[in-house]
Amino acid sequence: MEDVPSVSVVDWRRQIAGQFASRPEYLIPILQSIQEDAGFLPPESMVATARHLRIPESKVYGVASFYAQFNFEPQGEHRVTICRGTACHVKGSGRIESEISDQLGVPPGGTTGDMLFTLEAVACVGACALAPVVVINGEVFGDQSVDSVKQAVDKLREDSTEE
Ligand code: FES
Repeated sequence: MEDVPSVSVVDWRRQIAGQFASRPEYLIPILQSIQEDAGFLPPESMVATARHLRIPESKVYGVASFYAQFNFEPQGEHRVTICRGTACHVKGSGRIESEISDQLGVPPGGTTGDMLFTLEAVACVGACALAPVVVINGEVFGDQSVDSVKQAVDKLREDSTEE
């Protein structure tokens, strides 16, 4: 995995203090702002948040881990999410998951070394009638196959390397 430049606790605190008052109700907006800025929640930013709000780090981690929108690791430029729910599983999502995992060379939850893709697997995304479903960069694609997802991944890789 590529090195992600790290920002110190002091710098994070300065940045947070420049935008938010030291009030506990700003915890989630602060986490959202950090994630928007860094793409994930670096440990230094969590310490800085706790110090700025004068609350325990465990509280910051507790809230951040409660919400699926927050990530603790750097994320790829593209997010490929395979639905593992029952309807999708019955229609072959397990094979899609394992083939795309092989194609990308990372397990679900992993990010490729070039930081282009994060692969994830989730329970039902609520579009069972379209099974098997794959969500790519937030867009839901139904009736997917190993080939269609592989092609979508290849296309994204091509587009990203052309830029
Ligand atoms: S099981 Fe995949 S969308 Fe519901």
